[in-house]
Amino acid sequence: MASLPVVAIDGPVGVGKSSVARRIAERLGFLFLDTGAMYRAVTLKFLELPEHERTDERLAALGESLDIELANDGTVLLGGRDVTLDIRDERVSRAVAIAADSRAVREALVRKQRAIGSARPCVMEGRDITTVVFPDARWKFYLDASARVRAQRRVDQLQAMGKEASFASIHRDLVERDARDRAREWGALSIAADATVIDTTEMTEQQTIALICAIVAPA
Ligand code: DC
Repeated sequence: MASLPVVAIDGPVGVGKSSVARRIAERLGFLFLDTGAMYRAVTLKFLELPEHERTDERLAALGESLDIELANDGTVLLGGRDVTLDIRDERVSRAVAIAADSRAVREALVRKQRAIGSARPCVMEGRDITTVVFPDARWKFYLDASARVRAQRRVDQLQAMGKEASFASIHRDLVERDARDRAREWGALSIAADATVIDTTEMTEQQTIALICAIVAPA
């Protein structure tokens, strides 16, 4: 069977997967799917429940019934409500492991991701796309960069927005999230044996995009 026209991209937190994946999707005319947004959306819904209703059963049901629309420009609609900013809230970021560590949620979201990626060409990014969701994707990439460089990029982004940023606390947070993503029982972040590893430590975003596009759609 021919492999699916999916560009699967995995990598650690803060490596720039979303931004790179979105621009590649634009260039190729493919759908862009940020799977982290799906885990964030389930988490947001869960946090909106009254505390006594936050059970494993409700969590699993939220994964199963998730009514989410992800636009190529990054807009996220949940049951028609625009939650683009809400899902990036610090409260959701701190709690997102609730959804990402749940096997029931992962199974439900992986099913949705496979349905989307099987329907049309897409660029899909996350932690387990090359290993679990689409191990048979036509193109598989693992983006990497040292934790220090990823932390510094985040500091630069925040400062450019006029926000305060502490390198030490951002670096610590990033290392903790990496460890958690790598230790997850199901869908852990790992490098697929047949993925192309791109170390972006010394690369600009433009160079990374150009390299991936040259592999996916050689001139
Ligand atoms: O990429 P992100 O930071 O928006 O992802 C949010 C969380 O979801 C993060 O803790 C890792 C998790 N995640 C995952 O477990 N599997 C994916 N395919 C995508 C994200």
